[in-house]
Amino acid sequence: MPDSAKFYLTTPIYYVNARPHIGHTYTTVVADAIARRKRSIGIDTWFLTGTDEHGQKIERSAKQAGCSPQEFADRVSAEFRRLWDRMGLTYDDFIRTTEPRHKQAVQKLFALLRDNGYIYKGSYTGQYCVYDELYVEAPPGAPCPDCGRPTETVSEENYFFKLSAFERKLLEFYDQNPEFIRPETRRNEVISFVKSGLRDLSVSRTSFNWGIPVPGDEKHVIYVWMDALANYITALGWGTDDHSQFNKFWPADLHIVGKEISRFHCVYWPAFLMAAGLPVPKSIVAHGWLLFEESKMSKSRGNIVRAETILDVLGADALRYFLLREIVFGNDGSFSFDALVQRYNADLANGYGNLVSRTLSMIGRYFNGIVPEPVADQATSIHTQAPEVIATFAQHFDALDFSRALETAWAMVAATDGYLTATAPWKKPDSLTEEQQQALRSTVLYNAAESIRIITALVYPVIPDATAKVWAQLGLGDIRTADLRGLTWGGLQPGTTLGELAPLFPRADKEAITRMSELEQKNTPAANASSKTKHEGRISKLHSLIDGLAVAMAESTNETSTILAFESAIAETLRETGGGGRQHSTTPPDLAPGTQNPPPTPESASPAPSFSSGVGSVPGAPPLPAAPHTGTVVAPSATPATSGDKITIDDFAKVELRVAQIKVAERVPKADKLLRLEVDLGNETRQVLAGIAESYSPESLIGRKIVLVANLAPRKLRGFESNGMVVAATGADGKAVLATFAEEIEIGARLK
Ligand code: MSP
Repeated sequence: MPDSAKFYLTTPIYYVNARPHIGHTYTTVVADAIARRKRSIGIDTWFLTGTDEHGQKIERSAKQAGCSPQEFADRVSAEFRRLWDRMGLTYDDFIRTTEPRHKQAVQKLFALLRDNGYIYKGSYTGQYCVYDELYVEAPPGAPCPDCGRPTETVSEENYFFKLSAFERKLLEFYDQNPEFIRPETRRNEVISFVKSGLRDLSVSRTSFNWGIPVPGDEKHVIYVWMDALANYITALGWGTDDHSQFNKFWPADLHIVGKEISRFHCVYWPAFLMAAGLPVPKSIVAHGWLLFEESKMSKSRGNIVRAETILDVLGADALRYFLLREIVFGNDGSFSFDALVQRYNADLANGYGNLVSRTLSMIGRYFNGIVPEPVADQATSIHTQAPEVIATFAQHFDALDFSRALETAWAMVAATDGYLTATAPWKKPDSLTEEQQQALRSTVLYNAAESIRIITALVYPVIPDATAKVWAQLGLGDIRTADLRGLTWGGLQPGTTLGELAPLFPRADKEAITRMSELEQKNTPAANASSKTKHEGRISKLHSLIDGLAVAMAESTNETSTILAFESAIAETLRETGGGGRQHSTTPPDLAPGTQNPPPTPESASPAPSFSSGVGSVPGAPPLPAAPHTGTVVAPSATPATSGDKITIDDFAKVELRVAQIKVAERVPKADKLLRLEVDLGNETRQVLAGIAESYSPESLIGRKIVLVANLAPRKLRGFESNGMVVAATGADGKAVLATFAEEIEIGARLK
């Protein structure tokens, strides 16, 4: 079979320490849409998903749940599978890393790498992040530089993989295969990570035993990432007696992953494969995060939305459409019930759904449900637009730009709607005879139905349930088995009898948002909060408010408006949390009706408190920091210190200034001036947020040496922890200019 006639695509295999949420659903829905499109155009497609079930994190979660790791994994893995089935996702295989077919093959892979001389035994003492299942560079007691969680000191005799041997090979490979890592920002990050030097990787553990034993040395278990990544080949039967699927589908055409695991997929995975003498995947695409309330949706942050909530109220197509239309693939994107309902109503209920219903019901009314023959030559814009719409949709979809592909298809929905309105086939102008009117109607309704057929064929991979109904209503049978290749205008045969008409997307009212919020709260234990957790909620809300102020101050050029905005945010938070005595217009959520505070006195109805005095009076609120920071010290350009500001040398010695090198730089969603940096301090990597996005593009910063205030207490900004401050001056134009060095200087050096 020629290579292009097959397509093997995968999602990450999801950890079973947490139930699925719409972050996981996002990746899996994207993969499903791609798989459906490939199949519909005749490509032999294999779509793999599954669950990642080994490791200390899962062992501990099982212990907490009071069951064995296997029972725990069985339960959560089944939840993933149930959800995917309920959504009708068309995966061809679901691999579980606790299955014998996987375990045996992983042991073979380990043995092969060892036989090939790429695995050796050594010993290692270091900080281990249980959550990330990774040794990290951090001093004992320090948090994980990646996720901020506590690390543990672990001393182990380990097997090591000679990752260092692949530095040059990987760089050459990336160079020769520009499509291997997408998008460009991830590619640059990975390349700069590899260029900064690869150390050998510890690939076994003895500190816990919920894993696959190292063959021949069973007190070790194989590193979870080696175990997990191997799923992409073990699911195809590699390492078993039957290699036929492997021979047919490997190398993978596309691994879809979230951006936080691009390093594992783009560095470790190809290195393992090269060491095993196996072909590497053709392409890895790392998408952005789904954010909820401005930070990454995740179990640990407690800001999760479950797909089930949306399925119960609006159905799977609504969720699929929203995820693919609203979020620009590759970027982070926000989820909210409001935005979901807005999209649903505008594009699905009022757009596509309404177009189908008005067109097909008119064919029912005027032509007895039989597709009419276009007789009059009504040169229509939809007719002439069709070839371009088909080509542009394909081009965007195949480049994984789903949002623009859907925009293109919905432009055709709007054009067809406009065409119907302009030609008004339900009216009979006096200027036309009965016969002329019938000819016009036939043509207009044929054209509208044909346009619907084309739109339906294009968007089938995204909204499969609704399009299957429309296909049947058009009298065309089962869309899942239809060959949608070579889509051209005129495919709908006049004389076709329409199927039974049924509504597609009933309009959602405000009630839908309330229902989803309520369902979600029922689903989330935090919603049944005791007063203690409510109190914690207030504190955390106020914390994020203060973070917000810090960000706003750094981003703003107009302090007065920042302060005003902040004041109103405080007032809002006080109202929401019931934490302040000044805003009595709504019932605080934890007060039963009838127990409200007394009505406002003239004094209490005065303007919202200013942030310097108001926050201090809020129960549970921490004091405001004297100088909120965004990780950037920007020295005022024009105000020299007065003598009263002078400090002693001991004061200065308290500030630890160090040379750091920027390894990763990316924009922070919805913060125009903020960048998220990962900087190397020689013996550790730190995450720092810096308000320099207006002066520097993220790409221009990679590899740059900067000065970092290294001993600043960590702060949380926009949901990210900032561990230090970047030193910069403010230029005359108000832009930040980074402090830098004219001579070569090693990373980590202290400034005195
Ligand atoms: N088990 C590893 C992956 C091993 S693959 C060989 C893992 N599992 S995970 O359960 O944490 O899933 C991470 C993946 O889930 C992300 O890479 C992404 O595909 C998806 N997402 C989880 N949360 C997400 C968001 N909030 N937003 C977008 N995708 C998210 O890492």
